[in-house]
Amino acid sequence: MSGQRVAIAREADIVAARQAGRQLAAQIGFSSTDQTLIATAISEVARNIVVYAQIGEIILSRTDDDGRVGIQVIAIDQGPGIDNKELAMRDGYSTKNSLGLGLPGARRLMDDFVLDSEVGRGTTVTMKKWKR
Ligand SMILES: Nc1ncnc2c1ncn2[C@@H]1O[C@H](COP(=O)(O)OP(=O)(O)OP(=O)(O)O)[C@@H](O)[C@H]1O
Ligand SMILES: [Mg+2]
Repeated sequence: MSGQRVAIAREADIVAARQAGRQLAAQIGFSSTDQTLIATAISEVARNIVVYAQIGEIILSRTDDDGRVGIQVIAIDQGPGIDNKELAMRDGYSTKNSLGLGLPGARRLMDDFVLDSEVGRGTTVTMKKWKR
């Protein structure tokens, strides 16, 4: 897979992924507001890696489709996976007594959002935002 990879294993890596995403979004030409929204979505999926899977990675790339340009963010881990994906996407659902807003929040901040996960195998979140 091509793209810029950021290994995720600790809090500082979340910050690094957030900054790398913001920088790529700026290069692509996203507004400062959109850069912040993209960085926030990256933080949420990176934080989920640290909390639930301990290690994984974020892959950032520019994406082009039919004359549209955007940013693609893939978060991959080989952690425990998610049993009920529909439930995990609900506002307020958390298995760690947290706010349960990370995944649904990231979905709202981005344009395309796909959660792929299998128990015992891991989780991949693929999200894109298109430049307006
Ligand atoms: N990478 C992952 N691996 C395994 N389970 C995950 C992963 N990401 C999310 N989950 C599961 O999905 C649930 C919902 O995730 P979400 O990020 O929306 O909420 P949260 O992490 O519990 O709380 P918040 O992000 O608001 O602090 C989590 O509680 C966890 O059970
Ligand atoms: Mg979360």
